Amino acid sequence: MAASRILIQLDCDPQPSTFDSIVAVDAGAEVLLRHGNVTPDAAVSLVHGAMFTRGGADLAATAIFIGGSDVAAAEAVCERVRQTFFGPVRVSVLLDPAGANTTASAAVVAAGRHLPLGDSSAAGSLRAVVLGGTGPVGQRVARLLARKGVMVTVASRSLSRAAEVCGRIKAVVPAGRLEPLESSGAITSGTPLATAIAAADLIVAAGAAGVTLLDAAARGLAGRAQVLIDLNAVPPAGIEGIAANDKARQDGAAVVYGALGVGGTKMKIHRAAIRRLFESNDAVLDAEELLAIGESL
Ligand SMILES: NC(=O)c1ccc[n+]([C@@H]2O[C@H](COP(=O)([O-])OP(=O)(O)OC[C@H]3O[C@@H](n4cnc5c(N)ncnc54)[C@H](OP(=O)(O)O)[C@@H]3O)[C@@H](O)[C@H]2O)c1
Repeated sequence: MAASRILIQLDCDPQPSTFDSIVAVDAGAEVLLRHGNVTPDAAVSLVHGAMFTRGGADLAATAIFIGGSDVAAAEAVCERVRQTFFGPVRVSVLLDPAGANTTASAAVVAAGRHLPLGDSSAAGSLRAVVLGGTGPVGQRVARLLARKGVMVTVASRSLSRAAEVCGRIKAVVPAGRLEPLESSGAITSGTPLATAIAAADLIVAAGAAGVTLLDAAARGLAGRAQVLIDLNAVPPAGIEGIAANDKARQDGAAVVYGALGVGGTKMKIHRAAIRRLFESNDAVLDAEELLAIGESL
C-alpha cells in the first residue's frame, strides 16, 4: 500500500495559515500536520519525527511546508530544518512565507513573457524598478530579477531599508546589480527615482495593500517600460490605471498586469510546488526553484 502523502506545516504565526492548508489539500496532500508558533528550536523535534518514521522511498511521501507572515523567522526555521537533515535521511521542503516566493515567482514569470529574461546577455541590458521593494514580495522580485542579470532599483520610503535589502540580495547573488533609492514624496521629473522610472523596462509595484506608489503623473514618466505589474489587489491601485484583473493587457506602449492577473499563476506555482514535494525526498523549494517551476508551467 502506498504511503499517505503527509505535509507538515511549520508556521511561525500563532495559527497556521488556512490558505496554505487548503492549497496543500487541493494539490494532493492527504494528511496535514499543522503547527503554529514554530521557532528554529521547536522545529528540530518536529523534523526528527518526519525523518525517522518512514524509510526508503516512503520518505518522499512526507514533506515540510514553512510559512507565516514573518519572512525572516520562516527563513530561520528553514535553515534549521536543513541543518537537521543528514545524508539521505531528509524530506522535501517548501518555503513560502507570506506567499512571497510564489507571488514573486509569478510576477517574474509574467514579466518573462514579454522581456528576454531567459537570455542572460539580453537580460543584462534590462532595467527594473521594484516599488515597495523592501516587503517580503518586493525583496523576492528584486532577488529573482537580479539573478537573471537585470539591473534592479529597489525603492523604499527609507534609503537605509532599501540599501539593507540590496545588501542582503548581494550576499546571495554576488553578481547581482542593484541600487537602493528613496521613494518618499512625489515622484517628479529630475529626481533619482523619476530617472530610474524613465529608464526602466519593467516596473513592479509591490507596496502594501491599498497604497498607490505610482500615480498617473509618475506613470507618465515611464516612457521606456514594456511591462508594468501591480501586485496590490486592494483599491486604490498600486499603479494608477491598472485593474486587479488585468493580465497582459496592452495599455499604451506597455503590457500591464494586476494582482489577480498574476495571482492565477501564483496559485498554479503553489500547487505545482506541493506536488513536486512528493516526487522526491530531497527538494528544497525557495524562490529560485519556484520560479523554475513557474517557467516550466
Ligand atoms: N497577487 C497575489 O497573489 C499576492 C500575494 C501576496 C501578496 N500580494 C500583494 O503584494 C503586495 C506586496 O506584499 P508584501 O507582503 O510584500 O507587502 P507589505 O510588506 O505589506 O508592504 C511592502 C512595502 O510597502 C511599503 N509600504 C508600506 N506602507 C506604505 C505606505 N503607506 N506608503 C508607501 N509604501 C508603503 C513598505 O516599504 P517601505 O516602508 O520600505 O517604504 C513595505 O515594505 C501587497 O499589496 C500584497 O497585498 C499579492
